[in-house]
Amino acid sequence: MKVVRILGIESSCDETAAAVVENAEVVLSSVVASQMTTHGKYGGVVPELASREHLRAIVPVVREALGLAGARLEDLAAIAVTTGPGLVGSLLVGMTYAKSLSFASGVPLIAVNHIEGHIHSVILEARRAGTEVAFPALALVVSGGHTHLFEVREGFEYRLLGKTRDDAAGEAFDKVAKLLGFSYPGGPVIDFLAPYGDPNAVRFTFARMKGNASDFSFSGLKTAVLRWVEARGMESEIAARRALRRGPSPPTAEEWLAATPRATLDLLASFQHAVIRELLTRAVAAAERMGARALIVSGGVACNTGLRAAAASAGLPYPVFFPSPGFSTDNAAMIAAAAFPKLERNQFARLDIAADAGLTLA
Ligand code: KG4
Ligand code: ZN
Repeated sequence: MKVVRILGIESSCDETAAAVVENAEVVLSSVVASQMTTHGKYGGVVPELASREHLRAIVPVVREALGLAGARLEDLAAIAVTTGPGLVGSLLVGMTYAKSLSFASGVPLIAVNHIEGHIHSVILEARRAGTEVAFPALALVVSGGHTHLFEVREGFEYRLLGKTRDDAAGEAFDKVAKLLGFSYPGGPVIDFLAPYGDPNAVRFTFARMKGNASDFSFSGLKTAVLRWVEARGMESEIAARRALRRGPSPPTAEEWLAATPRATLDLLASFQHAVIRELLTRAVAAAERMGARALIVSGGVACNTGLRAAAASAGLPYPVFFPSPGFSTDNAAMIAAAAFPKLERNQFARLDIAADAGLTLA
């Protein structure tokens, strides 16, 4: 069998990543330089800092990915790079470097949509495990920037079924964590603390929305949490956690737990429970409407243990695919994987292709 290797480069948000994938199946290397310690203190990604960190990391990260894979640039079939959606300043770092590598080596460039990458993350891992995802599949892409439902058809054709009208699910996790004094990203902290609280302690309801039944909305939930916090005068508790967040080293999960009273644990458990219920209810209903043969969940929020457990115990009539945690959050193996079908179709990008912060998939 012919060996086809693609180098993937990803820099759309706060991870600088590079990976080499062989024959759409074997991950020869996957290097991710996270900026978590840079942004953690600020409670969110600071775009200017993100670009600077990407600039610092891009050359060593790509070099390490090629080195670990034992791959030479000239032997690659393509260089795949994320061109959007994401932060423009961040995207440009990865794109500029990918273009210069392509120009210097003559290896063609392939443009990849970050969201399509997240979907391919799951398909790639399923294939590595010896299973193929059956189509049509429903993809729930839940990250810090997106909450989308797509119908994925054979040949990787996409139809957008629904999306968030305001905040993304991961953004809701991040904002709730921030307002309570926890560090960025909020998802992992809340995920760790939620099992210590009662998910039915606080009843959060979602306002009924007109229009598309597959659309999401999380800003009302975030506001409800804010009202709950304001009504209870939690200033000193929150100030103590903020001080912890600003400390010399990032706090451990146990330190967060020790700084969180039972009532707040109940709040977090109830918040997470509400998000999970909202995501799964709409995804399952959409899957049924389109006759899905599989459910794919991807993006950073797919790491959530509560969401995984709820999906596993829902008794769905089709298989549910979650990526392993390292493949849920941003990585470059998913960008390389998404490029294989494009390589087969000779869908190469010109070297003057622009970054597109608001790039859509369908
Ligand atoms: O896919 P990703 O790395 O970057 C984007 O494309 O946005 O997703 C990051 C998001 C953050 O909002 C983070 O809080 C959330 O994923 N996240 C989680 C968990 N791990 C990461 N949310 C809930 N539970 C988790 N365990
Ligand atoms: Zn992402």
